[in-house]
Amino acid sequence: MRLISLDLENFLKFERLALEFPDGLTGILGPNGVGKSSLVEAIAWALYGSPVSRTRNEGLPFRRNVPCRVALTLEIEGDEYRVVRELRGASLTAHAEVSINGVPAEVGTERTNRLIASRLRMDHRAFMVSFFARQKELDALIAWEPRDRKRYILRMLGLERVDRAIEALRRDITDAERDLRAREAALPSLDAIQAARKAARERVAALTRQREEAQAALEATDRELSEARQRAEEMEAQQRRYTAAERARDLARQALEAARREEAIYAGRVRDLHAKQEELRRLEPSLQPLPELRARRQALELAAGLQRRRNALVRTIAHHEKTGQDLLKQAASLSKELSTRDGLQLAHNQAEALLAQTRAELTDIQGQIRSNEARLMQIKRERQQLDHDLKSVKELGAAGRCPTCQRVLDASYTEVVSHLEGELKALDGERDDYARFLAEDSARATQLQRQVADTEAERQRLNLALRRVAQAEARLSEVQSAIARNTAELARAQAELEEMGEQEYDPAAHQRVVDQLATLEKVEHRVIGLRQEVERLPAEEQALARARQAIPERQAALDRADEELRALGFDPAVYAQHRQLCRALEMRRETRLQEFHRADRERERALAEQQQADARYDDYQCQVEIIHERRLEKENRDELLALISAFRVDLIGRIRPTLATKASRLVRDLTDGKYDQIELDEDYNLWMHDDGERRELRSFSGGENDLVHLCVRLAISQMIAESAGGAEHGFLVLDEVLGSQDGERRGLILQALGALSRQFRQILMITHLDDVKEMVEHAIELRELPNGSSEVVASNGM
Ligand SMILES: Nc1ncnc2c1ncn2[C@@H]1O[C@H](COP(=O)(O)OP(=O)(O)OP(=O)(O)O)[C@@H](O)[C@H]1O
Ligand SMILES: [Mg+2]
Repeated sequence: MRLISLDLENFLKFERLALEFPDGLTGILGPNGVGKSSLVEAIAWALYGSPVSRTRNEGLPFRRNVPCRVALTLEIEGDEYRVVRELRGASLTAHAEVSINGVPAEVGTERTNRLIASRLRMDHRAFMVSFFARQKELDALIAWEPRDRKRYILRMLGLERVDRAIEALRRDITDAERDLRAREAALPSLDAIQAARKAARERVAALTRQREEAQAALEATDRELSEARQRAEEMEAQQRRYTAAERARDLARQALEAARREEAIYAGRVRDLHAKQEELRRLEPSLQPLPELRARRQALELAAGLQRRRNALVRTIAHHEKTGQDLLKQAASLSKELSTRDGLQLAHNQAEALLAQTRAELTDIQGQIRSNEARLMQIKRERQQLDHDLKSVKELGAAGRCPTCQRVLDASYTEVVSHLEGELKALDGERDDYARFLAEDSARATQLQRQVADTEAERQRLNLALRRVAQAEARLSEVQSAIARNTAELARAQAELEEMGEQEYDPAAHQRVVDQLATLEKVEHRVIGLRQEVERLPAEEQALARARQAIPERQAALDRADEELRALGFDPAVYAQHRQLCRALEMRRETRLQEFHRADRERERALAEQQQADARYDDYQCQVEIIHERRLEKENRDELLALISAFRVDLIGRIRPTLATKASRLVRDLTDGKYDQIELDEDYNLWMHDDGERRELRSFSGGENDLVHLCVRLAISQMIAESAGGAEHGFLVLDEVLGSQDGERRGLILQALGALSRQFRQILMITHLDDVKEMVEHAIELRELPNGSSEVVASNGM
């Protein structure tokens, strides 16, 4: 196996790193903590994935939220493998894939892990021990007591797996023994099982007989029942005919009874009608006074009507007389109101004339006031102008100009001033006059306005009074026509009353006639009813005769139906008895059927029990077989345990000389033949031969001790690689194994390691010691950047 290249992105200390691994001795150099051992971690992680990492996934990315990626290319038995692992996304989901010679081989972490482990033929622990050697392992080898060293070496060589296998085998054997004992103890007695089988068979035979007997009894009852049912069917047909004849006989009997009932009804009705005929004969003579009484009642009703009319006329006349008087009083009052009309009209005309005159005068005066106000305004303006002219003339004196003709005043100044002052005075006088006129006219106008308002109010009052008089006139004409109508009505009523003359009417006699008539009319009503009923007598007598005639005919029909029924010769009691027999047979069949089912079920149960007994027997046979097999298995395991134990002893016996031989070869190469034999005694104490003398290791120098332990450690690596199936042990990583060596010794060891190239094609020497750079074929130097990440500074010889 050979490492080809390693590419890291965002992995532990490295934001980005690309390394190629040359053949020969390569130093991986850099100060503490720069990330040298992280490269080992990256190689192991690429091959075996997260479960073997020193940290959990979250600890691996240099930066969060950026995918963390490792790609390792290596050669295994002539094929080039490229394994890529990634942690992606916020949840750091793991991805893995592997390709062989550029062809994708597997995708997915599980599948990749399986493929790599099978190709390397070793698990992670064996891989780490065989390909990586660390200072602390050497320290352990040196510091431990021989017993612990022995255990450590055996563990490194994977012997504990043999021990675990032996332990597991022992546990299996103990379990198998316990299981065998339990099974043998749980085995039931064969005699009991056989006895139970025999009893079950006998019981099945007895129950089968019982079931057959029950079946025979059921079949006999079935036959009996079927015969009885056939007879019942025949009887049922006869019964249907008998029932029909019986129904015909009942109908004939009902018809006879109906004829008899009809005859009785008609006979009763005829009797009743004869009694009513008798009553009619008795009542008819008492109705003779009826016409005369009715004529008297009519005359009395007429007289009563006339009497009521006369009383009404008397009331009407009294009413008209009272109304006439009221109307006359109203007419008088209205005539009186009418007499004021002329006076009112005159006053109204006068008020209207006065109103027109006052309004004309008011209009004149209002015109006068407006013209006076205009003149006053004009005077005011003229006076202002004059005042202004006078003031300006006075200001300029004789040098001023005439305001009218614009000539320079000079000598006429005084004249002009006195002229202007005279005009001003005249205007003041005129203004005072107009002011007085205006005051007088305003007072007069106010007086006239009040007069207009008063006269207008008076005119409206008179207008209203005149309208009322006009209404009274119309009302008077209505009252006069009402008087005329009332007088005419009164006259008409008086004439009718006079024409009617005096009347005679006796209310008591009238009441007597009404009472007599009420009694007789009841009798008359009864007589009319009786006559209508008696009219039906002949028809009812005919119906009675017909009913009497039908009775003997229906009696004869009944006799014939009785005869037909007797002729059928069917006895319902015999039929009922047979039906009862059928029911009894059905019940018996039911009982037989249940007995049969019971016998059948019991037989089934017995059969199941027989099967169970057989199954118990089969079970027993099966258990005997299992016990036999288990015993064989246990014997095999015993044999295997003996073999593995012997193998273990043999292995341990061979490890020591093999390890010593390999370590001797290494020390010879590393010391260039100065030392050539290392021995490991039975207690795992180390010895080295020096010039043919066997010396305990502690008698050599510290550096020589370290060297011997390094050889032992490398020999262990070789042994593991060989035991893993002979995969070529192409590379070796030594992490800080030069700890205690001085500069010269370091040089020698490194030189000697170069000589190991026959056995290891690539040796990677991880160290923080700077001078190693000069002693290796190739150097990969790491340094830390200010942001905390690390990078490759230089790699020489590559
Ligand atoms: N699996 C890990 N998880 C978290 N941090 C790690 C892991 N491996 C290494 N580191 C950190 O990365 C840095 C480099 O560690 P590494 O062991 O690679 O250094 P080194 O160069 O081998 O140092 P030394 O010379 O001391 O052995 C250290 O600060 C360490 O804490
Ligand atoms: Mg380290």
